[in-house]
Amino acid sequence: MAVREIEPIVLELDRLEQMAESGYYNPYTMFEWPDALEPDRPWMSESLTTLAGTPMWDELTREQQLALTKYEAINFFSLNIHGIRELMSEVVMRIHERTYSNVSEFLHHFIGEENEHMWFFAQFCLRYGGKLYPAQPTLKAASVDHLSQVARELIVFARILIFEEIVDHYNALMATDQSLPHIAREINRVHHQDESRHVAFGRMIFLNLLKQVAGRDPEEVPVVAEYLESYLQYSIGTLYNPAAYRDAGIPDALALRRRALAHPARVQAHDKVLKRTRAFLSKAGVGRELIKR
Ligand SMILES: [Fe+2]
Ligand SMILES: [Fe+2]
Repeated sequence: MAVREIEPIVLELDRLEQMAESGYYNPYTMFEWPDALEPDRPWMSESLTTLAGTPMWDELTREQQLALTKYEAINFFSLNIHGIRELMSEVVMRIHERTYSNVSEFLHHFIGEENEHMWFFAQFCLRYGGKLYPAQPTLKAASVDHLSQVARELIVFARILIFEEIVDHYNALMATDQSLPHIAREINRVHHQDESRHVAFGRMIFLNLLKQVAGRDPEEVPVVAEYLESYLQYSIGTLYNPAAYRDAGIPDALALRRRALAHPARVQAHDKVLKRTRAFLSKAGVGRELIKR
């Protein structure tokens, strides 16, 4: 029976732990929160909104365009909050398990940092947007329920990694976008800094677990690949929130969402967001080319 158990995860994390310690900051005092944001600035980079590059964007009034950047920023930060809560609860459950005892020091940093991220994202949403958008239904993992324990463990950490890589694409671009209000830029910048460590760790633990899966039952690998590709697409879909369209005063929110998601300019934009992650998965041997059609 022992052979079915997950082998303890051993990773070289000294450098990441040192960086977490030396870069430690107090999130509760480091930001200056203005009472209100300048009304004529976008809250999210215009090129990152879900209608960017399509005629649907051009058809909006300037007022609607600015409103869309605001509500999509609130949606993006809300997605962060819900995603963090999900990943934190998974990590908390594992922190003192034998499998993870060698990485628990890093996991402590991880949980602490994520708690702080959740706080500053919620501050932004509540102060300036007056609300969070509710969590969207998560992608069911029924197709992978029957897999081995180690494969299901791999899926848990892969979901965390994919979520963090997608978010980081947006954070990295908005961290330097001078058109945004200073506080919006700062939140993106600070998050991007912490996430570079999380992504590095996420890739290491992913590769470790994938190796265990492939060593035990290589037939599980294409099943994982298929699930991960659907998770990538599901994650992109969550950015297109009809409620944000409605709040921005744009009619026919559901139809607009469908049209936008399928528009060639958007398909191209999605590929750009997912490029780095897909390249990593392919190189690891679990890319979408394994999916049987
Ligand atoms: Fe985070
Ligand atoms: Fe993170």
